[in-house]
Amino acid sequence: MDLAKSARDVRERAYAPYSNFKVGAAIKSSNGTVFSGCNVENVAYPEGTCAEAGAIAAMVAAGEGEIVEVYVIADSPEPVTPCGGCRQKLAEFSKGDVAVTMSNLEGMAVTVTVRDLLPGAFTPEHMKTV
Ligand code: THU
Repeated sequence: MDLAKSARDVRERAYAPYSNFKVGAAIKSSNGTVFSGCNVENVAYPEGTCAEAGAIAAMVAAGEGEIVEVYVIADSPEPVTPCGGCRQKLAEFSKGDVAVTMSNLEGMAVTVTVRDLLPGAFTPEHMKTV
């Protein structure tokens, strides 16, 4: 399944009655499988979850643990960028230079890497004591 189409399709199923801002995310894991997720809001606002978090949860639930590519889409004037928390979540499962394509419904798209989005990420290396 094409990452862009998967993200665009799942975005339609987002539950975003409070922000009216639907987001779709698709991630490819190291075995080539595509997982997708949409934002799911809640009347208790902080309980809402981002599209990227949903896609990552689906990947982990399927037994996969490495992201090789990411695509995010929303109806935004500029290509939508993952929030800070999602950057950390993406970094957790990304090794090397993982491409993140950020896009909008008009077809504007920008591709960067997870490292570009979160330079100096907190990693397990920081918890190693000498
Ligand atoms: N949102 C995402 O799903 N992903 C992002 O990276 C940015 C923000 C959602 C969260 C909330 O449901 C809505 O967009 C408005 O912030």
